[in-house]
Amino acid sequence: MKAIELKQLLKQMTISEKIGQLQQLTADFFTSGASEITGPVKEANLSPEMIYQAGSILGVSDKEKVRAIQAEYLAKNRLKIPLLFMADVIHGYKEIFPIPLAMAATWNPELVRQTAEFAAKESYVNGLHVTFSPMVDLVRDPRWGRVMEYNGEDPYLNSRMARAYVQGYQGDQNDLRQPNTIAATVKHFAAYGAVEAGREYNTVDLSRWQLFENYLTGYQAAIDAGAKLVMTSFNIFEGIPVTANEYVLRTVLRDKLGFKGTVISDWDAVEEIINHGTASTGSAAAEQALRAGVDIEMMSFNYNKFLEALVDKGILSVSLIDEAVLQILTLKNELGIFEDPFRGLDATLTEQDQVNGTKLALTAAKESLVLVENKQKALPLDERKSVIVLGSLANTGELLGGWSWHGQPQETESIIAALDHAKIKYRFVDDQNHTALNHLDEISGDSILLFLGEPASQTGEATSKTDLRLTSTQRRLLSLAASSGKKVISIIMSGRPLIDSEIYEKSNAVLLAWYGGSEVAQAICTTIFGKNNPSGKLPMSVPRNVGQIPIYYNHYSTGRPETSPDEKDKYVSKYLDSSNQPRYPFGFGLSYSNFEYGIPKLSSAVLTKTKSIELMVDVTNTSLQSGVETVQLYIHALVGETVRPVKQLINFKRIMLESHETRRVIFTISETDLRYVHSNLQSKSDLGDFEYFIGSDSNVNKKGNFELRDVE
Ligand code: GLC
Repeated sequence: MKAIELKQLLKQMTISEKIGQLQQLTADFFTSGASEITGPVKEANLSPEMIYQAGSILGVSDKEKVRAIQAEYLAKNRLKIPLLFMADVIHGYKEIFPIPLAMAATWNPELVRQTAEFAAKESYVNGLHVTFSPMVDLVRDPRWGRVMEYNGEDPYLNSRMARAYVQGYQGDQNDLRQPNTIAATVKHFAAYGAVEAGREYNTVDLSRWQLFENYLTGYQAAIDAGAKLVMTSFNIFEGIPVTANEYVLRTVLRDKLGFKGTVISDWDAVEEIINHGTASTGSAAAEQALRAGVDIEMMSFNYNKFLEALVDKGILSVSLIDEAVLQILTLKNELGIFEDPFRGLDATLTEQDQVNGTKLALTAAKESLVLVENKQKALPLDERKSVIVLGSLANTGELLGGWSWHGQPQETESIIAALDHAKIKYRFVDDQNHTALNHLDEISGDSILLFLGEPASQTGEATSKTDLRLTSTQRRLLSLAASSGKKVISIIMSGRPLIDSEIYEKSNAVLLAWYGGSEVAQAICTTIFGKNNPSGKLPMSVPRNVGQIPIYYNHYSTGRPETSPDEKDKYVSKYLDSSNQPRYPFGFGLSYSNFEYGIPKLSSAVLTKTKSIELMVDVTNTSLQSGVETVQLYIHALVGETVRPVKQLINFKRIMLESHETRRVIFTISETDLRYVHSNLQSKSDLGDFEYFIGSDSNVNKKGNFELRDVE
């Protein structure tokens, strides 16, 4: 349809049809048992007219249901305006990829784009139009269970991944009339990841400067990549619920970030303005949300119940409703569903598509694994030797993660099955087999594969925890394994870093496998036995203890920085009972290879706004094993109008090096890399001196200096 025709359609709509377009319902309003319920379900008391005027539906999961609902809906909708179908395809539709935190550990945006592209293809043929992904809430607190959904603690890495997801979902032309594309929803706007104490749905209280400095970069990247929707977050900002916050949703999102698409509330978030206490009635909540710029109310019903009366009383102008309706009609038009309401439903994946998807999931799972301990090169193991396997997580297909849409755990290969597949000799000892557990030393095999972690059901939304240690059963297994005299290889399956010193101190090797999706079992086995060389790097710091949280590498100096870990001065920023340093830093990850860095060289020590400089460093793989290294480039501005982080990632490159191969890695440093948010919230660079750091993680020492000048 042409834009003018959309406006003509709008003119034909009654006020109740307009308001209907602003309502999102689950499929249960159309057919029982058809929906994924991901929030509190309340009594709606909607009339049949309201239901068959709803603009969109969420949580439907297969093509036949979508086809049936769309057909029935169109038969009952006066103007034949088709339904939009949306769902949480977060890390795969049926072929499940590693959780986003694990995908961030690949430091491979192109791989992220490919996984999103495949998820879009599976979604398209099942009739989905919109996914509620990517989630780009910056998080520095693993107590918050949704840390599994995000791209790490660094604004730059977050923005690279955010862009990759949107490009994967929406295609390289950003043309949603193309097959195998779905619209991306960037969420949760804004700063939901900054919940106090890591407690789910809790208060967020940060300055506008901090919001712009660190928390908006992921959203900005997704919006610049063309994300069609933004989802509001459950939290407040500056004392006002975001879903009712005109500053956040109009001034920041529309004016500053330039978003022109559709704003959808999170589940029940309009209604929850009342719980927050800035509205005492549903009518007031509806008025606040619409004024703030929320176009779609997800699974609460205040727009349907109160907007018409608010317009009749002259409290709200119908133009606000028209603005929101036009957003939704435009999105439907961009998807081409006026012309083809059954978009995608006649398409299917080919056999080759399925094969490609499985291969992609295996590649992603392999690249997401992070090796954080490998004492005396405990790994890789010799596949000819038998091993002992402990831990219930070795014997389950529940390896998909907390938002694994239509992944099938019962069809997912377990670790045990993967060991069988690889013809590895092993003995699995069940947690309850106390006799065997107390005599591990008598069981053949000089290594123990110990599978530890948290259940997938304890990751994702509504899974905040204050204690990130192992369960008592798992701690007992670890102690028994450690006292058996055998090598202990701990593999951690979790949606967040676990904080339990015993894991890292009692194990000979520790591999973080996160929730790695449909093919993670094979990825783990091929890595343990040396067919895959781990290359993952931490997208977030691993704290030593919960007391350090929030802990992140790009912290500010403070007025009394601890200049060295053995600082004797009492009056510096440190703890009496813990190091300031994380157990493992952002960007850290071991390899079976060994990478040596040469002396970096600058093409010039001076850059200007119009002249960039190049930084070159030679990296050598001094081992016999080919491997991938992620070369990371950090800077530190010695002076700023606002405080500057002690280190800030500005670029990274993944390189594959054969045994004894040397590669020259070249980075370009431009003035744009040096821009930061000033106290007036404007992002710009300042002339001055910078340090740079280049290496394999954020603990790398300073390598040199350069200067930004007006003229050379
Ligand atoms: C949930 C989540 C959000 C999700 C939505 C729809 O409450 O907060 O991320 O997309 O509801 O399922």
